[in-house]
Amino acid sequence: MTKAEELAKIHMSWLAKCQCKLKKTALRGVPGDGNAEAEIVLIGEAPGKKEDEGGRPFIGAAGKFLAEMLESVKMKREDIYITNIVKYRPPENRDPTPEEKDACREWLHEELKLINPKLIVFLGRHSMNDFFPDLKISDAHGKLIIKKFIKIPTSHFLPLYHPAAALYNGSMRDILIEDFKKIPLILKKIK
Ligand code: URA
Repeated sequence: MTKAEELAKIHMSWLAKCQCKLKKTALRGVPGDGNAEAEIVLIGEAPGKKEDEGGRPFIGAAGKFLAEMLESVKMKREDIYITNIVKYRPPENRDPTPEEKDACREWLHEELKLINPKLIVFLGRHSMNDFFPDLKISDAHGKLIIKKFIKIPTSHFLPLYHPAAALYNGSMRDILIEDFKKIPLILKKIK
């Protein structure tokens, strides 16, 4: 089986068995999407309205901004893999609860174990705090973290501001664009 096929199997299995309570209100589950051989995995928070309707992560305004930033570092969406901590849309896009994060966590870890990227990029505090609960995104953004976990093979992490938060905040937007440019440099260093 190819990595892409194995990934599809993971998603099929979790879409059926995931116990997340948001299944009751969301239209559908939104699994991770992209290149199963990617060197980078980006992790967001949870699907929004567009993602809930379309079944793919980051296809709304934040996704458009993300595509622009990828282009600025000469990458395409097809080069990366993108997923969320929580795979179902919280009503009115509220923050996911700790229980909702717990329900989807093993699904995320299976994706990460299979893809085994060189670098994990956190988009926003929710995904960063799932791995590093004590960090503040305002301090940690743009700084590479090296740490070994038992559950996943990757040991390099880059927290960034969430593109949706930065979209309409000029100074945060500028910081995110600058931080994003560090990705190819960091990747080169890890190799
Ligand atoms: N914001 C996220 O965190 N994830 C998405 O998939 C879309 C918007």
